[in-house]
Amino acid sequence: MDLLLKGKTVIVTGASQGLGKAIAMEYAAEGAHVYISSRSEEKLQAAVEEIRNKTRNNEVNYTVCDMKNDAQIQTLVQKVVEKYGTVDVLVNNAGGPPAGKFMDMSDDEWFNAFEQNLLSVVRATKKVIPYMKQQEAGRIVTITSSSIKQSIDNLILSNTMRPGVFGLTKSLSQEFAAENILVNTVGPGKIATDRMMQLNETTAKLEGISLEEVEKASVADIPMGRYGRPDEFAKTVVFLGSFANTYVTGQAVIVDGASVKAL
Ligand SMILES: NC(=O)c1ccc[n+]([C@@H]2O[C@H](COP(=O)([O-])OP(=O)(O)OC[C@H]3O[C@@H](n4cnc5c(N)ncnc54)[C@H](OP(=O)(O)O)[C@@H]3O)[C@@H](O)[C@H]2O)c1
Repeated sequence: MDLLLKGKTVIVTGASQGLGKAIAMEYAAEGAHVYISSRSEEKLQAAVEEIRNKTRNNEVNYTVCDMKNDAQIQTLVQKVVEKYGTVDVLVNNAGGPPAGKFMDMSDDEWFNAFEQNLLSVVRATKKVIPYMKQQEAGRIVTITSSSIKQSIDNLILSNTMRPGVFGLTKSLSQEFAAENILVNTVGPGKIATDRMMQLNETTAKLEGISLEEVEKASVADIPMGRYGRPDEFAKTVVFLGSFANTYVTGQAVIVDGASVKAL
């Protein structure tokens, strides 16, 4: 299937490693012009080099952008538009909120999670919509979590912010459907990235057991019997955020090897 992404301009935020980088890799392999961003210039440089080498696509660039900083999001979009004239696809991603239970979280932690995982989506989306409206075409995909369908133990901030992003996604899909702007969210279950390993380490410390024991128990919960790979997750994102997708909008797709039991 041709995903109709050749020469399209794609922004992937939070993409110096993990799922964001895997998504950028797939877009680059499809021949898109890809702009990645995150907070660390060093990691971004390495990611751009790796993506260019693996995909032989040199139209891969980066800009440092903390998704908690509205001015930096503005600069990111401006830079992309200066270089390529528009934005065709936005993939919203950033680091996940810290693990913990309700009584563990300070007001600062609540505000941080709101700014990084919900307000960032509002801010970035607001900046690309005018270009997408003008050309009557656009695709927006936001990375959330399986917590939009089923809450996850010890992740109160994710369980609260992520469903808000799904609500936002649904509203945006309706508001901009007539302009051919399709908006979806994709939630990872357990995909093998640094974030996944950090969460396992936190659980091991909290429960006083070894990392191996945590991993064994964690995989035992996945009917497919293994963690997902970042490229498996990325392929779903890239289809929804492509111009081969002409009618799926306002949806939440969970990529989880059948872990989530909720409908
Ligand atoms: N992996 C999973 O199984 C899983 C499951 C459920 C949900 N998720 C969610 O999916 C998202 C991606 O997961 P991942 O596993 O790829 O995480 P990861 O390995 O921790 O990578 C996060 C990426 O986001 C960037 N980042 C972090 N904070 C940022 C900020 N404030 N502004 C801009 N960039 C930021 C990081 O780069 P810099 O350090 O350079 O900024 C990095 O490139 C996260 O929100 C995570 O919570 C993942």
